[in-house]
Amino acid sequence: MTNRSNASRVDSDHHLHPYTSIQQIEKDGPLVITKGERVRVFDESGRSFIEGMSGLWCAGLGFSEKRLAEAAYRQMLELPYYHSFNGRVPRIVTELVEEMMSWSPVPMERLLFANSGSESNDAAYKIVHYYNNAIGRPEKKKFIARDKGYHGTTAAASALSGIMAGKTLFDLPIGGVIRISCPHYYQYALPGEALQSYSDRLIEEIEQVIAREGADTIAAFIAEPVIGGGGVMIPPPDYFPRVQEILNKNDILFIADEVISGFGRLGEPFGTQVFNLKPDIITVAKMLSSAYAPISALYLNDRVCAGLRKGSDKIGYFGHGYTYSGHPMAAAVALETLKIYRGDGIIEHVRRVGAHLQKGLRRFVSHPLVGEVRGMGLIGAIELADDPVQRKPFPPEKGVGSFFLRRAFDRGLILRAIQGDILAFSPPLIINEDEIDEIIDITAAVLDETLDWVRG
Ligand SMILES: Cc1ncc(COP(=O)(O)O)c(C=O)c1O
Repeated sequence: MTNRSNASRVDSDHHLHPYTSIQQIEKDGPLVITKGERVRVFDESGRSFIEGMSGLWCAGLGFSEKRLAEAAYRQMLELPYYHSFNGRVPRIVTELVEEMMSWSPVPMERLLFANSGSESNDAAYKIVHYYNNAIGRPEKKKFIARDKGYHGTTAAASALSGIMAGKTLFDLPIGGVIRISCPHYYQYALPGEALQSYSDRLIEEIEQVIAREGADTIAAFIAEPVIGGGGVMIPPPDYFPRVQEILNKNDILFIADEVISGFGRLGEPFGTQVFNLKPDIITVAKMLSSAYAPISALYLNDRVCAGLRKGSDKIGYFGHGYTYSGHPMAAAVALETLKIYRGDGIIEHVRRVGAHLQKGLRRFVSHPLVGEVRGMGLIGAIELADDPVQRKPFPPEKGVGSFFLRRAFDRGLILRAIQGDILAFSPPLIINEDEIDEIIDITAAVLDETLDWVRG
């Protein structure tokens, strides 16, 4: 690539980029982003792009919320760092705890802080083990996790995830994860299978897995309410109620990974409310601070906490935490973020503009390249297909999703193509209807260009 800046050259030589082809970035260099404004980001040359993914499904308040910058600055002046080990706590963290508890979608007892979505799921993995050991059930340790679930990239979070890129070659030292099907009718229903029969089949699979492994060996089930990175997949309507019943019956904990859905993305504060879940643990990150500072957390219910207390009584303390668990600057940013969500009616706004996005996306239902359009609130996907009627995807090597992304990028729209040719949409929560129309108009033009290219 010509005209590369010095910043781009230095970076591509010395920076190992997550989820990026090393060869590709050595050749092309990264796109260097220099500033943000509302739903847009700007590159070094001043070109602007609508960030149709809020970065990584996370910058809920967009890229220029001054109140968050000011909250961080105020906190840095007052108390830039203190920890929560050994019975201490920064005051701002106590305020965040109070605020977050008021958002809790089901009765929860405590919050444990971490710094990323992966860490929160990693901690959930450890806590479930600790809990069962503490209450005298050392055999009850396995996890049920779903194909296409994404829970992050620490060792345990990768093991829980059902996406191979995070596992291959890594020799993860974590066992005991039982993989079950991804609940997505469009991709996985058999030819001619009705939605209800498909859903019955999913439930039977879970029942069979539990019967095979033994309920007394299975500790927890982890699921995103709406699968995000695996392809924006919404389960059949009766899936979660029936799963929930099975979990209750077999005394299996439910970990709701609300790292994407937490704090408004689906048009309710949590996916737990959308699907009427009864999780024992909820993990949150991303929109907790609108991604302006790294912070994540686990909501833990009284049942889990009772187990943790038992362990702590035995050992003398709860032996888990990070130097930056409940970092004051990140806590200040998260607290201000939640105040803005509440004060500015962001959830109601998501409901309103989310309906506009969903309507806009559904314009493409009968486009010759489109197999399925799906989504809720401010998350959506267009799944491209070689043969939409047969639900047949394009061969991955054809790179149809990548072609679409490049052309959208040329027109000033950043999106992601996940799992090949699924175009994901997850704009900042503050997006307005005009900005959504821009996204839809660019998408319409690029879908047609892509069709010409495919038919080429
Ligand atoms: C549902 C879900 N869980 C966990 C994670 C991991 O979060 P992080 O990248 O902050 O570690 C992600 C990241 O996209 C996610 O989408």
